[in-house]
Amino acid sequence: MFKKVLAAIICVAVSVTMFSCAPSKKKIFEKAAKEYFAQFEEFQSAGKIKKKVEFSKKGSVAYCYPKTGADELDSQINQFCLSLAEGFLTGDKTSEDYMLISYKSYKPVKNVYGVEMHCRTFVGGSATDTMQTFNYIKDGEAMTDTLNTMLAIEAREKDKTVDKNKRKSFVYKNDCIGVTFGCESGDVSVDVPYTKVRHLIADSIAESLEESNERTVDITKKMVALTFDDGPHNTYTNEILDTLEKYNAVATFFEVGNLVGQGADAIKRAEKLGCEIASHTWSHGNLQTLSLDGIQKQISRADEALEAVTGKKPKLLRPPYGAVGKTLLGSTDKLLIGWSVDTNDWKYRDKDKILSVIKNEESLDGDVVLMHSLYESTADAVKEMVPWLIENGYQLVTVSELVKYKYEDALEAGKYYAYNYFDYE
Ligand code: NI
Repeated sequence: MFKKVLAAIICVAVSVTMFSCAPSKKKIFEKAAKEYFAQFEEFQSAGKIKKKVEFSKKGSVAYCYPKTGADELDSQINQFCLSLAEGFLTGDKTSEDYMLISYKSYKPVKNVYGVEMHCRTFVGGSATDTMQTFNYIKDGEAMTDTLNTMLAIEAREKDKTVDKNKRKSFVYKNDCIGVTFGCESGDVSVDVPYTKVRHLIADSIAESLEESNERTVDITKKMVALTFDDGPHNTYTNEILDTLEKYNAVATFFEVGNLVGQGADAIKRAEKLGCEIASHTWSHGNLQTLSLDGIQKQISRADEALEAVTGKKPKLLRPPYGAVGKTLLGSTDKLLIGWSVDTNDWKYRDKDKILSVIKNEESLDGDVVLMHSLYESTADAVKEMVPWLIENGYQLVTVSELVKYKYEDALEAGKYYAYNYFDYE
């Protein structure tokens, strides 16, 4: 008897649920709003959360926005939400149409806020998502031309066509700047860590970054790339590295493939210090006189030798003697790198003469300096050259860094770049 009653009750309960099953338009809207808001909750670390949900037969709106305490920012965001909602409700809308606004907020340090406002409009059964960013830095500028340039250069790693004039949005996140550029193939978004742009951001953020020896490139400073050919040499490559390590500086080593095996330790050490390892062919071949087949062997054998030590193929090739002919040009996917300052160290074998070449240059900004790994006099000159360059405001960078930050990655594979290109000023 008891069981029968229970069954009847369940039956009634089921049928009641079934009748009330079709949710009202209001319920649908409220559910959508709840789900939309939930997506952002874990990213709302800065400020208090304000919420507003309004259902209407002529279109509904729900917003969720931050109140950070920075009045200027708060009123901008408030204004933004109000004008979006007002614009939405002005047109012809039905009880099924709605607008949802929510946000992500960041506070990397005190008095700095980044906010991404996200908006979804649902009209006539289809949804459109948009996003707008707001940043606030007390007593500081959120974006400068140089910072924008640096962000564009970093974004070019993802898409070569990134144009610094086509930035769509940026936001100060907790440990990086999130930036989006509009490109022909679609939007390109990257997160650039503060540590990479520490010289270009508000002091309040830069100061909060842990003091680290991690080398960063400051695009506002002068840059020079020291290069050493014909190694590795077990004594002098290491002496050059001792100096670079002492000053937290780097250089580029154009190594001869058939010497790589015996100098593998020096190459590994150079790489660990952040130096660039590049190719100087397998046996110092003259690429101007060799056949295409001969050229390709010189390049591929050196690649194999270097890859065996570093795990990757070099991106740069310096043709021995700077000898470049028609057969070489366009036949390789490497950048062909010459030099713009020749120390003639192999000829002088004299520390002071090498130094005077450097010191007599009017400006070394953007230059590629040629030296060799084989001579004591060169290693001795480097001991004085590196601190002198740093004292005179230069950053020592690798050739790839110079190409990336000073020349905005505009170099093309298979072409030769030397004096007329690297003579920046
Ligand atoms: Ni050479």
